[in-house]
Amino acid sequence: MSRIPQSFIDDLVARADIVEVIGSRVPLKKKGREYAACCPFHHEKSPSFFVSPDKQFYHCFGCGAHGTVLGFLMAFERLDFVEAVETLAGQLGLTVPREGGETPQAHPHAPLLAILEDCARFYQAELKRTPRAIDYLKRRGVSGETAATFGLGYAPPGFDTLERALRLDRQGIDRLKQAGMLSEGEHGRLYDRFRERVMFPIRDRRGRVIAFGGRVLGDEKPKYLNSPETPLFHKGHELYGLFEARKALGRPDRLLVVEGYMDVVMLAQHGLREAIATLGTAVTREQVDLMFRHTAQVVFCFDGDEAGRRAAWRALEATLPQLRDGLDARFLFLPEGEDPDSLVRQEGAEAFRARIGHEALGFDAFLLEELARQAEDDGTPAARARLKTLALPLIQGMPAGVLKDLVLDKLAARVGVSIDRLLPSKERLAPRPQAHERPVRPAEPGRATALRKAIVLLLHYPELAARRAPDPAWAQSPVPGLPLLALLIDHLRSRPTPMGVTLEHFRASPHARVLEAISRLPPPRESEDIEVRERMWLDMLEHIAATHNRARLRQLTERPFAELQPLERQELLRLTTLQSSRE
Ligand code: UTP
Ligand code: MN
Repeated sequence: MSRIPQSFIDDLVARADIVEVIGSRVPLKKKGREYAACCPFHHEKSPSFFVSPDKQFYHCFGCGAHGTVLGFLMAFERLDFVEAVETLAGQLGLTVPREGGETPQAHPHAPLLAILEDCARFYQAELKRTPRAIDYLKRRGVSGETAATFGLGYAPPGFDTLERALRLDRQGIDRLKQAGMLSEGEHGRLYDRFRERVMFPIRDRRGRVIAFGGRVLGDEKPKYLNSPETPLFHKGHELYGLFEARKALGRPDRLLVVEGYMDVVMLAQHGLREAIATLGTAVTREQVDLMFRHTAQVVFCFDGDEAGRRAAWRALEATLPQLRDGLDARFLFLPEGEDPDSLVRQEGAEAFRARIGHEALGFDAFLLEELARQAEDDGTPAARARLKTLALPLIQGMPAGVLKDLVLDKLAARVGVSIDRLLPSKERLAPRPQAHERPVRPAEPGRATALRKAIVLLLHYPELAARRAPDPAWAQSPVPGLPLLALLIDHLRSRPTPMGVTLEHFRASPHARVLEAISRLPPPRESEDIEVRERMWLDMLEHIAATHNRARLRQLTERPFAELQPLERQELLRLTTLQSSRE
């Protein structure tokens, strides 16, 4: 399997700025030398999530989430390690080099992915040689370039086309079935699910085909057919066009959520590359979560009719609980009878963008407008009470923050009461805990505590490594943790990298887990002062050296002298002399 060279990862992590990377995804506020935010990994009302530019490390004192810039990307965008490296490299404009050639990453369902890729390629080739399908796309205004960007294809007629075209054996057919490409008829007879349809491959965030949507060329029903749920494809968790949007824009300023495949394709062709679609279902929380992992603003675009408004309401319900400060959701309703595809073709991209700018409702405006309708708000006290009853639980479901307070203010203004009467509880403006009140996990007592303290200190203040060379014997020391400390000192002597960078360097090493656990411990408080710190460090090393010498002496004296190698005898002699000189 191809590997990313460690040197590249070291360099990448060293170049990246964790504050920038996290700050573009979570709104950070400067607090002393660190940056704080409400933790994106658990629900909380006051910020206990801290990002340290000096250490290139983040830590949540609430839930204990912590890690490096790559660890953050993995957790926040739900990426695996390689994806996180690729994302970070992409953000810095670097290409990820590979050792040992280009081979795809192992994936638990690699055979299914491979067969879907084959299907997609087959459909694309079929499109090129089927004038009827080409004409259909041309009539709808789809350019050849757009068809290529989205990998559009055509599924020809026939019930066993894929089996024959891909020359599949039994196992291949079984995989085709697992991948959702075959339907099962009476007596378990299998046949091609997609026939005589324009094919839209649905790709995951890395661009791998995981499912298809297929549209008939005429008026037959059903108009669209989608892949069923498969091990690779969970409709409510995917967004059509997200891969293409990210490929075109990197991290988009906003995502435009529409209903149909063709809407995404045509908006993109007109330059609105940020369009994505849910897959013929109501917007799910998982999808909203996914959207906000890739952008800070989501614009939902729906039909202006009753069905469109109902769908928009469901989207709002899925969105509100995730609207942290720094995020935004808007709702655009289109004139009845139009969809984004028809509109953008009629009026062009600029007019469509202008609509988003002028006509999209803020989520709060949509919320209050829609609820006022439901409460039949005619300004009477009874109607206002109804409005309050409907709105309050929804707004209270939002994560705590300025945004939530603003919406509560708006509701109060609308209902005509003061905010305190709206919320009698002490829920608002609860005092935030001070930094020194943050719970800190104490070091567990144990034999290696001195070592752990030294390692923590070194991780936080890597320049200490240069103050004293490790004893070569430490690498094999019987003292737990000392070989690791020696390794760290050696590594940091030549380049004292911040903690996050160091942890990334050792990610693949056998010490990674231990290091990771130790990195959670706070450095000693006195270590803020540089002189105190240096003295503390040298004292620690002195103490550790003595511990090592004692442990080693015990080890050597426990063995019969006759068995010791010449070098070990010398060592024993040296250690004995050292000890007697101390006593
Ligand atoms: P629409 O009926 O609005 O179709 O369905 P559309 O996207 O405008 O299609 P065109 O312009 O006629 O080609 C919106 C979305 O709902 C899902 C599809 O994802 C479609 O893109 N859908 C629709 C289905 O899954 N099955 C259907 O039969 C119809
Ligand atoms: Mn349409």
